[in-house]
Amino acid sequence: MANMHAIFEKNSIVLLIGILVLVAIGGLVQIVPLYYLDSTIEDVEGVRPYSPLELVGRNVYVREGCYTCHSQMIRPFRDEMERYGHYSLAVESKYDHPFQWGSKRTGPDLARVGGKYSDEWHAEHLINPRSVVPTSIMPGYPFLATAELDPRLIKEHLKTNAMLGVPYTEEMIENAEQDLLNQASADNGDDVVARYPKAVARDFDGNPDKVTEMDALIAYLQVLGTMVDFSIYKDEADFR
Ligand code: HEC
Repeated sequence: MANMHAIFEKNSIVLLIGILVLVAIGGLVQIVPLYYLDSTIEDVEGVRPYSPLELVGRNVYVREGCYTCHSQMIRPFRDEMERYGHYSLAVESKYDHPFQWGSKRTGPDLARVGGKYSDEWHAEHLINPRSVVPTSIMPGYPFLATAELDPRLIKEHLKTNAMLGVPYTEEMIENAEQDLLNQASADNGDDVVARYPKAVARDFDGNPDKVTEMDALIAYLQVLGTMVDFSIYKDEADFR
């Protein structure tokens, strides 16, 4: 037995292959069961797919590279929870393709920014961050307020997400264009809210004449972290 080990010790290539085999076994043992265990991601009430308007807002978020400065994952440490709220659950990014956890925090974590500010605050902040936070180093995105949304692509977008496992129904896909426009107006939003529980329909950007990328991005920011109602988990609240 001791002699066999000498092969590894005297020949670096054999040692290297040995290491690779061992690490691969270790990796498989850790990773493979996650694909088969039902409990890997626990279902939690309230988590639903993004509405069409929120989904477009998410696309704008990704396109503009907001994730290069903002994370969306609150870690389970006391300081994080004091500042941002309940730590993030895996299920909360279940329908994110790709997820926006991020690894860089030039600005604060946004996983629970929904409801923290008014729509007006967000619109002002996105147009010129310095107008509401004088010391901010965040760039402005004034063009979002004038960039009108083209609803024609949203259907395909929902279909693609459905292909990846997001449970968009036929009805949701059929009505995607109308839902997209309706959620950005306070008067026609009933259907959207029925299809996407707790979605809010209103004019997000303060300009009722147009449905803009600003409407979509604010709708997205306002839903972040609001789907799960943590007040019903009493023990968790005590822990916090
Ligand atoms: C260059 C880095 C940078 C980029 C890129 C950036 N931000 Fe920020 N963001 C910051 C900083 C720094 C702050 C903290 C100061 C402030 O509130 O403006 C901040 C604050 C925020 C806040 C307020 C968070 C809170 O809890 O107070 C929101 C919302 C936000 N950013 C959204 C966005 C969105 C949406 C985008 C993309 C369109 C974006 N940011 C892009 C740096 C950035």
